[in-house]
Amino acid sequence: METPSESAVSSRVSSPPPATFGAGGPMLKQFDRSTASSRKGSQSSTPPITVVGIGNKVAKPDYSEAKIVLAMVGLPARGKSYLSNKLMRYLKWLEYDVKVFNVGQLRRTRARQQAQQAGIRENHTAEFFSHNNEEATRRRDQLAEDSLEMLIQWLKDGGNVGIHDATNSTRSRRAKIEARVAKEKGMSVIFLESVCNDPAIIAANVALKVSSGDPDYKDMSREDAKRDFLRRISEYEAVYETITEPHLSYLRITDVGNQVTVSHINGYLQSRIAFYLMNLHLKPRSIFFSRHGESQYNVEGKIGGDAPLSPRGMQYAKGLPALITDNIGDAPLTVWTSTLQRTIQTAQYLPYNKLTWKSLDELDAGVCDGMTYEEIEQAYPEDFAHRDEDKFNYRYRGGESYRDVVVRLEPVIMELERQENILIIGHQAILRCLYAYFHNLPQADLPYIKIPLHTVIKLTPKAYGCDEERYALPIGAVDTHRPKPGTPQQPHATPNTAREYYGNDK
Ligand code: F6P
Repeated sequence: METPSESAVSSRVSSPPPATFGAGGPMLKQFDRSTASSRKGSQSSTPPITVVGIGNKVAKPDYSEAKIVLAMVGLPARGKSYLSNKLMRYLKWLEYDVKVFNVGQLRRTRARQQAQQAGIRENHTAEFFSHNNEEATRRRDQLAEDSLEMLIQWLKDGGNVGIHDATNSTRSRRAKIEARVAKEKGMSVIFLESVCNDPAIIAANVALKVSSGDPDYKDMSREDAKRDFLRRISEYEAVYETITEPHLSYLRITDVGNQVTVSHINGYLQSRIAFYLMNLHLKPRSIFFSRHGESQYNVEGKIGGDAPLSPRGMQYAKGLPALITDNIGDAPLTVWTSTLQRTIQTAQYLPYNKLTWKSLDELDAGVCDGMTYEEIEQAYPEDFAHRDEDKFNYRYRGGESYRDVVVRLEPVIMELERQENILIIGHQAILRCLYAYFHNLPQADLPYIKIPLHTVIKLTPKAYGCDEERYALPIGAVDTHRPKPGTPQQPHATPNTAREYYGNDK
């Protein structure tokens, strides 16, 4: 096919071109020409002198219409609290307001209050969970209802997703929840059933329960606690009814990562929740984060760009394979890099499968790309101050905010949840966003997390959070961390993998 000349292209602007979309077609060529400047990428440009304010603080999207009750269903030790917790972290990272209402926590809190006020110690051994125990059954139903009322009130006060973490294991209990939520305009309910047939996972969950300081078992030996907990499970098994109600909106997860049934899931957030839960698995694995080796731009104090590694950065690239293989042995690992040459160069000696992700490219500093912080402060003092005031919400002109980066990293998180051992060679802002997801750190702290150069961060997901180890290679590098002015204490995560037993209802 003949390639159209320049004039042929412009003449087609006035008369509509034939609808040819194939590679090299005239329409594509036109599009290419008209967008050429905006596609030049993040190469440094000289910002126009007349511009005073160059960026903006951009507000969070309005999520006020999202009102979902997510009611868990499942026997004890089937990972309900694990799923609740995971989902909460994910949605909070995306800035939804999410809260878990754990009926076990409410029961313990109330029992503790009663013991303190009236000196009555409630018996929470397996007997309390027997459906033959009418008084206890009535009390447990009441607790579940009270917890649901608190959840609904919290949604009315502005929350988005309230997770009702209880067994909700009978049809009648689910019918009550459904009827109660139906009374609230704009609220919907999804049931999330966690089924577990794998004896090893159940045994691990039981072991975790009896060894994690659960107040229900605080005066018992481990053996007695285990015996009692297994009895509690069989009390629930005696009346358990898996979800078969055809009209309900529900998700059933069997052996996390194995099988998912989705029924009547409608709506944007509902579908996102389903998609996330479909990607989870429980296989032991680690996620490694490393920034690229020191780059030429790092040495010069410039941000952004696509500079190559400095000589010390190259040394780090050479040292990295030994550190990783020492740590992981011969377990499989995949390396993800961005499309920028400093991450690709850092990964070059690693003897693993490598993938390049555009979404892992560094935060786009728009018109400030290629400048030093001092230059930005001088040229745009107002903007510089605005960014310091509210770094998460600040969007560079022609570039991105931290929120924009979180949004573009969402598919990366989804894929990370699906995968096993992964090493990400990334950038300062990118790794901050990913790190905040795994450690459940608030958005305001996120842009100040310390991710030093020449350091590997190893995260190992546990039932309630992640363990963390850091390995620094003894190769010097500049410090690119710019603290929030006037704040001596910078945020840092204290990895917390402990289960909460009283939650916020202390
Ligand atoms: O300085 C290195 C760098 O990766 C820059 O390219 C990027 O703009 C910056 O870090 C992000 O960090 P901050 O948000 O603290 O400016």
